[in-house]
Amino acid sequence: MLRIESLAAAYGQSQALADVTLSVEAGEVLTLLGRNGMGKTTTVRAVMGLLGSVGGRITGGSIHFGDAELIGQPPHAIARRGIGLVPEGRQIFPTLTVEENLIATARPGRWNLDAVYALFPRLRERRANGGRDLSGGEQQMLAIGRALMTNPKLLILDEATEGLAPLVRAEIWIVLARLKSEGQAILLIDKNLSAVMRLADRHVIIERGRTVWTGDSAALAAAPHLREQYLHV
Ligand SMILES: Nc1ncnc2c1ncn2[C@@H]1O[C@H](COP(=O)(O)OP(=O)(O)OP(=O)(O)O)[C@@H](O)[C@H]1O
Ligand SMILES: [Mg+2]
Repeated sequence: MLRIESLAAAYGQSQALADVTLSVEAGEVLTLLGRNGMGKTTTVRAVMGLLGSVGGRITGGSIHFGDAELIGQPPHAIARRGIGLVPEGRQIFPTLTVEENLIATARPGRWNLDAVYALFPRLRERRANGGRDLSGGEQQMLAIGRALMTNPKLLILDEATEGLAPLVRAEIWIVLARLKSEGQAILLIDKNLSAVMRLADRHVIIERGRTVWTGDSAALAAAPHLREQYLHV
């Protein structure tokens, strides 16, 4: 489904990615692991066509989604191909209501307002509230709901449980497990190693912008030296 090969990217003179290779198959959950500043968000921005808007650029490699090369395509065209992003820091529209946030980028499919409100009942209760009036947990639910409303073939979540209360976190892990059971392909970035090892099929570790390891949860569990060397846990 998504195939990133030898991706390189820079911000000005600073080479943030040197050699990132990973793939996500249909129905698969893949995590992208690595310590702070190793290039996870930059990889996601490259996929979504968003590097230029933050002063970066792709300097090498390829990103295929199905048969299409994504490099060089504008963000809206990439999203329309079927990739939905829950961005780092949520980035909901603060001046729109919950419902307006959900429909702003919606496309037809299985995920509509009713389905998202059934998944996150709290969003239905808050539907007329402004984005800026939501708690952090509600904003995160909204960011996930908004991405689902685009009916993506691939859902990408960048630190979707970061900084949330334990109860909200738990709710999001349950939602992700449910999406996976329905066959949703997911590329997940998250620092909660035990949770991602339960959920994901495979993991990719990046270190200073390079893929250094790829394997399944059993292989990662059996390799404490990897976790120590590349994840500091
Ligand atoms: N807009 C930017 N301009 C310049 N440098 C940047 C920018 N965004 C990220 N960087 C740098 O690129 C490198 C990779 O950063 P990136 O945000 O991709 O890491 P990350 O793995 O997502 O980290 P974190 O776990 O903290 O979210 C870091 O050295 C970072 O300082
Ligand atoms: Mg990041």
